[in-house]
Amino acid sequence: MAGHHAVLLYFVGNFFQSQLASKLCSVDATVEVSKRFPILAAGMKGLIMGMASRYFTGGRLKTRQVLSTMVPLAILAACAGVCPAQQTAVTLNIQLDKPVHAVSPTLYGLMTEEINYSYDGGLYAEMVRNRTFQDHGFGGVAHWNIEHMGNSIASMAIDRTEGPSVALQHSLAIEVKKADATNRAGVRNEGYWGMALRPNATYKGSLYAKADSADAGPLTADLINDNTGKSAATATTPGLSTEWKRYEFTLTTGKIETSAQNHLLLTVGHAGKVWIDLVSLFPPTYKNRENGNRPDLMEMMAAMHPKFLRLPGGNYLEGDQIDERFDWKNTIGPLVDRPTHRSPWNYQSSDGMGLLEFLEWSEDLKIDTVLAVYAGYSLKGDHINPGPALVPFLEDALDEIEFATGDASTKWGAVRAKLGHPTPFSVKYVEIGNEDWFDRSGSYEGRFAQFYKAIKAKYPQLQLIATAPLKRMKPDVLDDHYYKRADEFFADVKHYDTVDRNGPKIFVGEWATREGSPTTNMGAALGDAAWMTGMERNSDLIVMASYAPLFVNVNPGGMQWESDLIGYDALTNYGSPAYYAQVLFAKYLGTEVPASSANGDTDRFFYSVTRDAGKGAVYLKLVNASSVAQPVEIEMTGTSNVASAATLETLSGATLPETNTISSPTRIVPVQTTIKGAGTKFSHTIPPYSIQVLELQAK
Ligand code: AHR
Repeated sequence: MAGHHAVLLYFVGNFFQSQLASKLCSVDATVEVSKRFPILAAGMKGLIMGMASRYFTGGRLKTRQVLSTMVPLAILAACAGVCPAQQTAVTLNIQLDKPVHAVSPTLYGLMTEEINYSYDGGLYAEMVRNRTFQDHGFGGVAHWNIEHMGNSIASMAIDRTEGPSVALQHSLAIEVKKADATNRAGVRNEGYWGMALRPNATYKGSLYAKADSADAGPLTADLINDNTGKSAATATTPGLSTEWKRYEFTLTTGKIETSAQNHLLLTVGHAGKVWIDLVSLFPPTYKNRENGNRPDLMEMMAAMHPKFLRLPGGNYLEGDQIDERFDWKNTIGPLVDRPTHRSPWNYQSSDGMGLLEFLEWSEDLKIDTVLAVYAGYSLKGDHINPGPALVPFLEDALDEIEFATGDASTKWGAVRAKLGHPTPFSVKYVEIGNEDWFDRSGSYEGRFAQFYKAIKAKYPQLQLIATAPLKRMKPDVLDDHYYKRADEFFADVKHYDTVDRNGPKIFVGEWATREGSPTTNMGAALGDAAWMTGMERNSDLIVMASYAPLFVNVNPGGMQWESDLIGYDALTNYGSPAYYAQVLFAKYLGTEVPASSANGDTDRFFYSVTRDAGKGAVYLKLVNASSVAQPVEIEMTGTSNVASAATLETLSGATLPETNTISSPTRIVPVQTTIKGAGTKFSHTIPPYSIQVLELQAK
């Protein structure tokens, strides 16, 4: 409720400057008053924004106070000089009885890969960083520290001769020279920029361990608050054995304050040598999946109304080198059998987010998987020529498709069933490689053809996506990528209007306006929204589109790629303005595009009209990327009955750089209102720097 009021207040402060102002003030009067009373104008705005921010930060304001104080103030402010000038009106003509084409029902989806600590330190809920001791730190063991309490004496080192499995052949050896029950010794893990702990929550821990003697005693696990040194929860394993064994423990917090400033401490109260590996700690996960995902980030994605998940990358699919590709067979089964691998984004991937976890992620969001298979090209230029050398990679891809889609009577479907998922997943598209236009060897034509032929022979129902234009054959779908500035998107918004409809369908598999860091700002949201109007208008051709990158851990060192959609730390998350632009566009997708035209539009005004005939709804998306208000005269033909009341959602910024951050997560969020006076012909004004969706009821 408080959040809701805060949004309302923010809306009042910002929105009155634009839409209301444009209605209350004539342009000349506005300019005149603002010249003469600049301090009053600024003061009024400051007051409004101050009250809004007080509300954000927990100050108490009653609704009546809000209404009786804010509204007059806002009106005053609007009339006292923050009223913008406005553009000349655009006339928008919409012919509801003339559908041009259907909207692709799968238009908006998600693209993902291990970048910016998207999984490790992000979506994948594991709290222990460098759990298998394979991250390379400078001096010492990355993210682990020795802890000798009292007068205990201990040291730690990686032991490359000891490990719990073939996949994990080294471990952390802790040599305890001196320790007892009160002078304990051990190691601590700092987590991914801390460990988020909440009150009355249960954390599931596990580790592999062995000791050099049968009387080594147990290991104690504690969750310690960095600032107080107090333990929030404690658990003890049985006495360690001299063989590698897996131990599980549960840590349950009591009445603690929620914070990310905590660490995991593992100690012994006995001299001797202890080895540990695959140390893991999970909070409650989305849908309580074992080895699962952070609920908050899953909910952020669900709110985007996605229709598919493109996985597992991106460059992450390819790896820098061939042996650093996403080798899916190394990512399934028990964690102890996953060797982990280096991602091209310069850190080790735990592969806790393996192929099955990816597929379950799609399943949990009730969406399809767009499965990208490695096709013999890696980022630094190594490639496999088409022909016999490529066959093992092709077989891996066929096995992968069978793992995802085969029933339990197939070899790889049976493996999946044995891993606990007998039901096949829904995969309609398979992408062959990633960004193969980078492959200067010219081998992609041949590699694609070899994959296409073999996959189609076994799975004729699959749509196969090429990642670079082809000369010798027509793929089902072509994946186009766009990373641009807002101005470039504005200029390119008609890109697909004239593209040949007899060519392949288009998947805009990666796109983003790259302005703002770590997450994008309002200016980028406007670039994105403009681009989305173009994609919707061409959604007979564009079957799918997915923004990239989706995630960024905003802690120092967490980002490898600027301008991302959703930011987070160990505890919390936020959506960029661009995130909310996508939420709005996907929420009001519609099923068909009616004929429409705009007269008098500027190069900062963009729109898209879709209709959901079944619901009797018309969705009018309006983008004003200008610093002044944009009036629109809307005329709808082919209907005689448009309801006067319409829902309006507005995403608006005061400036282009204005943005959301981890500490100010809701500066720019959609605000829903109802307008009156809609009809077959009506006027509407779009505030400056705004994205709006009008939901009209038309029979
Ligand atoms: O989204 C970041 C990267 O951009 C992707 O990994 C790659 O496909 C593209 O070049």
